[in-house]
Amino acid sequence: MSGHSQRDAPRARPEVEQLKGYSAPLEGRRGLLRLDFNENTLGPSPKVTEAIRAFSTDQIAIYPEYDGLREALITNLESSPAGLASALTTAHVGLFNGVDAAIHAVIHAYGAAGDTLLTTSPTFGYYAPCAGMQGMAIEAVPHELPGFVFPLAAIRAALLRKPRILMLCNPNNPTGTRLPADQVLGLAAAAPETLVVVDELYEAFTGDSVLPSVDFCAVPNLLVLRSLAKTAGLAGLRIGFALGHPDVVDRVGRVTGPYDVNSLAVTAAMAALNDQPYTDAYVDEVIRARNLIVSHLTRNSVVHHVAGGNYLLLWPRRSSEAVEVELRAAGILVRSMAGKPQIDGSLRISIGTTEQMQRFWQAYQAIDSKS
Ligand SMILES: Cc1ncc(COP(=O)(O)O)c(C=O)c1O
Repeated sequence: MSGHSQRDAPRARPEVEQLKGYSAPLEGRRGLLRLDFNENTLGPSPKVTEAIRAFSTDQIAIYPEYDGLREALITNLESSPAGLASALTTAHVGLFNGVDAAIHAVIHAYGAAGDTLLTTSPTFGYYAPCAGMQGMAIEAVPHELPGFVFPLAAIRAALLRKPRILMLCNPNNPTGTRLPADQVLGLAAAAPETLVVVDELYEAFTGDSVLPSVDFCAVPNLLVLRSLAKTAGLAGLRIGFALGHPDVVDRVGRVTGPYDVNSLAVTAAMAALNDQPYTDAYVDEVIRARNLIVSHLTRNSVVHHVAGGNYLLLWPRRSSEAVEVELRAAGILVRSMAGKPQIDGSLRISIGTTEQMQRFWQAYQAIDSKS
C-alpha cells in the first residue's frame, strides 16, 4: 500500500460528464467476412496500395502537405457523369480526419448550448453525441411507417422553429431512406437560418447527391459531407470532405487542427480519386449483390427492408442477438440494431460482393431455420 490517499479525478464540462462514450467498432474483425460497418469488403484500388508502398521516409518525417488534394477531389467530381452544377474552388472544400471529424467540427463550430439539432430517427449514431457535447438539444423526427419514409412534412414544420442545424443522412444509415436532391435543396432554401448538413456517405449507391445541382452562392446554408471510407475502401486511413460555401468551410476549418489529416491518408486519397473506375466497378458489384440477396430474401419470405445504401435490414425469426452471435461463430459479422427506435430486433447487413452475399445467405438460412 502506498501512502497516497485516493483523490477524485477532475470533472469534465457538465455536457461531457453526461455523455456516454460512443461505442466504436469491435476489435478482432480481421479475417472475418465483415458485413457490419458498411465498408468496402474487398479493399481499396491496387493503385492505393502501390502509392502507400512508395511512401517515403521524408513524408513520414515532415508535417502533411495538402497541395493538390482539394483540386483532385474537384476534378474527380467534375468528371463524374452527373458533374457539378457550378465551378468549385479549393475554398469550397474542407479536409477532415474522416467524415466523423467533419461532423464533430461542424457541430462544434455552429452548435451552441441550448441550440437545437434537428434530424431523423433512427439515423447514424455519431450526430447525437456531437450535439450532446455542445449542450445542444436534439429533435429527432421518426421516419414514417411503413417503409421508413422521410418525414418531409414534420421536418418542414420543425424548420419553422429555426433549429441551428438540420442533419440529413442521405441515404439514411441504417434505414436506407432516400431524399431526392431537389427536396434537400428545397429544405435548405426554406430555412436560410439553419445550417443544413447533408451526409452523402452512401450517395454512390443512389445517385441522389445535391452536388450536380447546388450553387453554394445561392444556398450558402448547405454543407455536403463526402468520404472515401466506404466505397473507395479507405476506412482505416480516415479521410473525409465537406463541400459548401467558402465562409462555412472556413468556420468549420477554424475548429479543426492544422494537421488533423495525416500524410498517408492524403497519399491514399489522391490515388483513390485518380482511380474512379475501380470504385465504380465495386459499386456496380454491390448493386448486383444487393439484387441477388433481395431475391433470396423475397423468395424465402424473410422480413426485410432495403432502399438506398450498401446495406439492408432484416428481421430474423429467432432473436437477432442470437443470430448475430451464431453468424460471428460462422465467420460473418453483421450488426444488431437492438434498442434502436423503429428497428429493434433487426440486423443490419452490409452488402459486399455476390460471392460474399451467397456465403452470407447460406449461413443465415442454416442459422435462422434452427428452432
Ligand atoms: C452516415 C455516416 N456518416 C459518417 C460516417 C463516418 O464516416 P468516416 O469513416 O468517413 O468517418 C459513417 C460511418 O459509418 C456513416 O455511416
